Amino acid sequence: MCGIVGYIGNKNATPVLIKALKKLEYRGYDSAGVAVYTGENIIVQKAKGKLVNLAEKITGEIIPENLKDEAYTAAELSLYEKTDSFIKGNLGIGHTRWATHGEPSDTNSHPHTNMDGTISIVHNGIIENYSELKAKLQSQGVVFQSQTDTEVVVHLIDKYYKEEKDIFKAVRKTLQALEGSYAIAVICKDYPDRIIACRKESPLIVGVGKGENFIASDVPAILEHTRDVYYLGEKELVVLYSDHVDLFNFDGEKIIKELSHVEWDMDAASKGGYRHFMIKEIHEQPKALIDTMRPRIIKDGKGCPTDVYFEENKMDDVWKTAGRVVITACGTAYHAGVVAKYAFEKLARVQVDVDVASEFRYRNPILNKKDIFIVISQSGETADTLSALRLAKENGLKVIAITNCVGSTVSREADDVIYTMAGPEIAVASTKAYTTQLMCLYLLAIKAGKLRGTLSQEEASKLLSELETVPAKIQQILDDKDNIQKFASKQFNKDKVFYIGRQFDSATSLESALKLKEVSYMHSEAFAAGELKHGPIALLDTKSLVVAIASDPELYDKIGSNMVEVRSRQAVVLVITQNGKAFKGKTDEVFQIPECSSVLASLLTVVPAQLFAYYCAIQKGYDPDKPRNLAKSVTVE
Ligand code: AGP
Repeated sequence: MCGIVGYIGNKNATPVLIKALKKLEYRGYDSAGVAVYTGENIIVQKAKGKLVNLAEKITGEIIPENLKDEAYTAAELSLYEKTDSFIKGNLGIGHTRWATHGEPSDTNSHPHTNMDGTISIVHNGIIENYSELKAKLQSQGVVFQSQTDTEVVVHLIDKYYKEEKDIFKAVRKTLQALEGSYAIAVICKDYPDRIIACRKESPLIVGVGKGENFIASDVPAILEHTRDVYYLGEKELVVLYSDHVDLFNFDGEKIIKELSHVEWDMDAASKGGYRHFMIKEIHEQPKALIDTMRPRIIKDGKGCPTDVYFEENKMDDVWKTAGRVVITACGTAYHAGVVAKYAFEKLARVQVDVDVASEFRYRNPILNKKDIFIVISQSGETADTLSALRLAKENGLKVIAITNCVGSTVSREADDVIYTMAGPEIAVASTKAYTTQLMCLYLLAIKAGKLRGTLSQEEASKLLSELETVPAKIQQILDDKDNIQKFASKQFNKDKVFYIGRQFDSATSLESALKLKEVSYMHSEAFAAGELKHGPIALLDTKSLVVAIASDPELYDKIGSNMVEVRSRQAVVLVITQNGKAFKGKTDEVFQIPECSSVLASLLTVVPAQLFAYYCAIQKGYDPDKPRNLAKSVTVE
């Protein structure tokens, strides 16, 4: 997830672009850049790190660290204004980056340009077929500067521009060659009166001003200048001039759209109209899962999924002979590891030990060079996880990292990295990072199953096809969120909440209980359902809520009996299941999830639990984005 902006009008584009990018920093902040047409040339400036670094690079002025902030400090604002005197031009594009392909660096920052610097582009999204396109362009003599997927786009536009002699045609022809998701803005020295922009599966809006026009990934970027916007639809293009905009479909036909007037205030706008980042990120899960999964599923000529591909993969042979898999992580990431234990053992028939990283490192663990070591970390900076990784490496193990942050310490120190494509997660409580971690782990388990010969081609294809249906099923759950909200409004005053489940569902119970306690401060615990009667049942009374997670039809009877035991102690019971009818008379409430095989259902069952946690926090009047005593990234032991 990155942020892009574009400006054309009477003002100097540079400060307009930089201030607009500041409003999009929530979409990524590992580097930023602008390209401005000065009347003679396109000048590009880019810098690793936060946007303020870019302004410092442009102005040559450094401001003290304590005057830099996520909020806009006066010192920062004044620095952004000062860029006005350094790069002058009325046309430009800008980018704030969340790295997916290529580490955060000046070179990998956008904008990217063609070889003679006459065309410049910014991109938000992922070009899935970039390696083939890059190889072809290289064979035709194109020299690449960066490791990004994006750079292929500008070289393709350049190639087609030379053939077509028309920049609009060149952009359209380029789009036909691209697979993946994108919002792209293009400027060309030969067309100093326009910006061309387009979108497919990544957001893009057009801000319409008086004598000036804008494009941006999100509304907050342009609110200072205008509240009149076109929401660009799927596969639509826009050509912006200073006095008007023309809209097109990908076939190049002109289209007419209704101009919308934005009524939101700035705070609401930065959360995309949602009240909090947590609920926004819960809603981003279908898209994040598509981004994480789609480039990695290999298909045959008929479009049937056959295998899994990971970009950085040096470990196929290791999987064939692995004696054991050891997973370490903390918090939510640890819970993803617990789900993975069930998935790997079932699909790849390999023994899996999962450890909390803070425990693992202090107990002199028994490690064997034939073990595969997996660390999971959204931030890639968690101190305990990092120490566990180092310990494994000291013992000669190969380490795979699953992380959301390109260039993080964990990603640099591991042997292989699998990136979750969740985009920046702002809320402290992890939601989309968790489900994208699960997606990576399921893909890895399927790949391992194939390599180890424990999963037939037919079984692997079936599972991969089913994985492809998951984002739409999560959307169905989200569309039904009012039911969870109503339930939360009745239950948020419960003294204790217990999540129970068996097998995969016991892992989801752990994550569900953590989510609830993190944001609503309600006392919640998770138990393997069969363990209830060995002690925890003593806690149950009329002030208890028990949430049973039941996604495996073969275990319905067993968990049904546990629910009856609970109900007879006067606790309220909710069941999250594909088949509410199976629990008739055993539950007070049912939350139905779409049909899904039990092995993959962990991707779905957690979503109602995330929503329940969020709505309980709201009912209690807490800010779920900033829970007390918690930090997003725990870099101390
Ligand atoms: C999740 O909601 C938590 N805030 C927390 O448990 C988190 O998952 C844990 O601190 C690990 O962080 P990491 O994934 O960045 O390593």
